[in-house]
Amino acid sequence: MRTLKLADQPVPVIGQGTWRMGEDRQQRDQEIAALRTGIDLGMTLIDTAEMYGEGGAEEVVGQAIAGRRDQVFLVSKVYPHNASRAGVPQACERSLKRLGTEVIDLYLLHWRGQYPLAETIEAFERLREAGKIRRWGVSNFDVADLNDLDAPACAANQVLYNLESRGIEFDLLPACQQRQMPLMAYCPIGQGGALLAEPVLQRLAQQHGVTTAQLALAWLLRQESVMVIPKAVRPTHIHLNAQACELQLEAEDLHALDQVFMAPRRKQRLEMV
Ligand SMILES: NC(=O)c1ccc[n+]([C@@H]2O[C@H](COP(=O)([O-])OP(=O)(O)OC[C@H]3O[C@@H](n4cnc5c(N)ncnc54)[C@H](OP(=O)(O)O)[C@@H]3O)[C@@H](O)[C@H]2O)c1
Repeated sequence: MRTLKLADQPVPVIGQGTWRMGEDRQQRDQEIAALRTGIDLGMTLIDTAEMYGEGGAEEVVGQAIAGRRDQVFLVSKVYPHNASRAGVPQACERSLKRLGTEVIDLYLLHWRGQYPLAETIEAFERLREAGKIRRWGVSNFDVADLNDLDAPACAANQVLYNLESRGIEFDLLPACQQRQMPLMAYCPIGQGGALLAEPVLQRLAQQHGVTTAQLALAWLLRQESVMVIPKAVRPTHIHLNAQACELQLEAEDLHALDQVFMAPRRKQRLEMV
């Protein structure tokens, strides 16, 4: 598995998302098994949040990494309404407990909310000094938010990015690259929806002997500073995703995709789900 440097740490360019996990007790065993398989296949970065299943996803992750915490790079996120000076450490403690770990590798502000950024950053820095988190970053931050943040210690920005949503290429992706801040693409396969049935993707996937989801991931991963966190529970999906960075796209593939999924020509508002 290819890696990129997130602050000081090499991490796999393909990680595992966990949104919608931990919502249904009957799915738990399957979800735990899925994350474990993903770790075995090298997708050792796991992305979760206190929001997902209102703590349920963090519990699933905790069970999946039990006994193998040292193999995993753990990302979790604090709700904006908890991102105050007093709220951040309390939320972090709850996350650590559910995750069954003493430290989170990367702790993100899920999106910008009512608390001043300086207050949230101060709380993040305190957690870092206390050894509760190793690094911190942001999510759903557009260029203006990054400018307001103005903090070199911010280790990553996690945003919506896939073939159907290319707006960030106009300014946000270059802004992250200029700051040497990796961009973590969420919903990288469009939540498994209409994107995967697009005729141009189907034609190119067939030519390369891959699936449309693998092609969508490879398209993102051709960019050095971009990493992806697809969520998958079905075992076939997990195996396919883990192989996606082996596919090299040619200039004519990229051209064909550009005809259907246009690159932005002007500033677009950052999309969120
Ligand atoms: N920071 C934020 O605000 C934010 C927002 C959204 C998401 N995220 C993070 O990003 C992660 C990924 O986004 P997402 O879960 O919304 O969407 P996604 O990863 O684009 O799509 C997930 C869906 O695609 C299916 N799938 C996975 N691999 C596949 C494959 N190889 N072929 C066909 N279908 C496949 C999954 O099915 P199965 O599960 O049935 O295998 C699932 O239904 C989230 O889980 C979460 O960790 C962050």
